[in-house]
Amino acid sequence: MSENILRRGRLSQTPERKVLEYTTSLPFDREIFESDILCNIAHTRMLMERGIIPEEEGRRIIEELVKIWKEGMEALDLDPSLEDIHMVIENELIRRLGEDVAGKMHTGRSRNDQVATDIRLTLREKVLLILKKLINLEKTLISLAEEHLETLFVGYTHLQHAQPTTYGHHLLSYLSMLERDIQRLLDGYRRINISPLGCGAMATTGFNIDRRRTMELLGFEGLIENSMDGVSTRDFILETMAHLSILGTNLSKICEELILFSTYEFGVIELSDTYTSTSSIMPQKKNPDVAEIARAKLSTLNGNLVSALTILKALPNTYNRDLQEVTPLLWSSVYTILDTLEMVEGMLRTLKVKRERMRELAEGNYSTATELADTLVRECNISFRSAHGIVGEAVRRAIEEGRDLVDVMEEVLKKYNLTLEREKIERALDPMENVKVRKVIGGPAPEEVKRAIGSYLKRIEDYEKEVDNKIEKIENVKKKLLEL
Ligand code: ARG
Repeated sequence: MSENILRRGRLSQTPERKVLEYTTSLPFDREIFESDILCNIAHTRMLMERGIIPEEEGRRIIEELVKIWKEGMEALDLDPSLEDIHMVIENELIRRLGEDVAGKMHTGRSRNDQVATDIRLTLREKVLLILKKLINLEKTLISLAEEHLETLFVGYTHLQHAQPTTYGHHLLSYLSMLERDIQRLLDGYRRINISPLGCGAMATTGFNIDRRRTMELLGFEGLIENSMDGVSTRDFILETMAHLSILGTNLSKICEELILFSTYEFGVIELSDTYTSTSSIMPQKKNPDVAEIARAKLSTLNGNLVSALTILKALPNTYNRDLQEVTPLLWSSVYTILDTLEMVEGMLRTLKVKRERMRELAEGNYSTATELADTLVRECNISFRSAHGIVGEAVRRAIEEGRDLVDVMEEVLKKYNLTLEREKIERALDPMENVKVRKVIGGPAPEEVKRAIGSYLKRIEDYEKEVDNKIEKIENVKKKLLEL
C-alpha cells in the first residue's frame, strides 16, 4: 500500500483497515464494473478525437481496458484503500501501462461525473430487464384470463361478497394495474438515460471536451447539462425506487390474493407444489410460502425508498460522499423486483383454478341483489333508491326467516303493490346473467373482457417493441465500445 495513487500526494497516513472497509464502495461497485469500463472507453476515445491525449496512447488505454473487462472484476486487486472501482481500474491500468500513459485517462474528468454516469448506464439495463419480466407476466395473465372468460367468480368489496364477476375479469384487473407500472418505468427511463459525463467534479473542465460525443458513444438520449446538478442529483434513483415500490405494492396485492384464495375457506385456487411448502409437524399442510416471502420482500422496497429519501434530503450541493450509500439501496430494490416478478409469474402460470368452488361462491350470499334492484327499476318503474330498500328488506327477511329469497321477494313486492314475474326474479338472481348484462366498457361480460384482452395485447406488443429497441441500441453501443 506504499504507493497509493489516490492518497500519496495530499495525505501522508493510510487509515486503519477498519476505516477503509467502512468507507469503501467496492462490495457493491460490482454492479457498475462493466459500466465503468464503458465510461472510461468513451471518455478516452473522446479525449483522443479532441487531441487532448495522443491517439496512440488512447488506443493502448482502450485496448487494456477491454482486457481488464474480459478478465473480470475478480481478477483485480480490490484494495479498499483505493476506495472504489474507479480507482481500482485506474490503478490496474497504471500498473500495466505505466503512469505516463494510463495516468492520462482521468484528464478532464472526476469520479463524481464518472459514478453518476456509471449508475445510469447500469440502471437503464436493469430497468429494461424489469420491463421484460413485467411484459412476460402480462402475457401470462392474458393467457390465463382467456381461459377464464366464463369462469364465474364473486367480486369483493370490504372482503364481503359484492357482485358476480368472472375470474378472467379479476385477472384483467391485475393486467390493468401492471400496465401503469410499465408506463411509469418507460417514462422514468427518459430521465435515467441522460449523460452527466463531462460535468467533472462540479464545474466541468477547462479542457476542450465534447460532452455530446461521449453522450452519443454511450447511447444516452440527452445531456444533463448543468454540471452541479449533473454530479449532485440522484432523483432518477428516487424516481425509479418509487416506481418499484408502487410496482411492489401492486405485486403484493396479487400475492395476498393468492394466499387468501388458496385457503380452505375460499378454496378457489390451488398453488402448484413448486410454490408451496409443508409443515415439519402437521403432515396435511400445504403452505403458500413463496407468496408470503414475496409479500414480505416487497415491503423492503418501501424501507429502501424511505432510506434513500432520508439520505438525500437536505444534502447541500454538489457531490457528498453520502451519495454512495444510496446506490446499494437501489440495487437491493432492483433485485427484489426482478426475483419477485419471476415468482409471481410462475405462481400464476402453474395455478389450478377450482371453477366449481368459484361458481358456488358467486351463487351464494346474495351477490346478485344489485341486479334484482336494477330489474325492479326497469320493470316496475320505480326509483333505484326505492328498489334498493325493497330488495334490502327481502334479503334481511330471507336471512332472518331462513327462506328462499325468491319466495320472500314475492311477498315483499305484494306489500308494496308491485308485480314482477317469478321468472324475471329468478333471472335477475342468476349470476351468469348478471355478468352477461354488464357489458359496459371495463365490465365482466365475456364479450367485453375478450375485447379488452385484444386491446391489451396490442399495447403490450408496442411496449415490447419499444423495450426491445432500447435493448438492441444498448447492445450495439457496448459492442462498438468493447470491440474497438
Ligand atoms: N464510490 C463513490 C460513490 O459511489 C464514487 C465517487 C467518489 N467521489 C469522491 N469525490 N469521493 O459515490
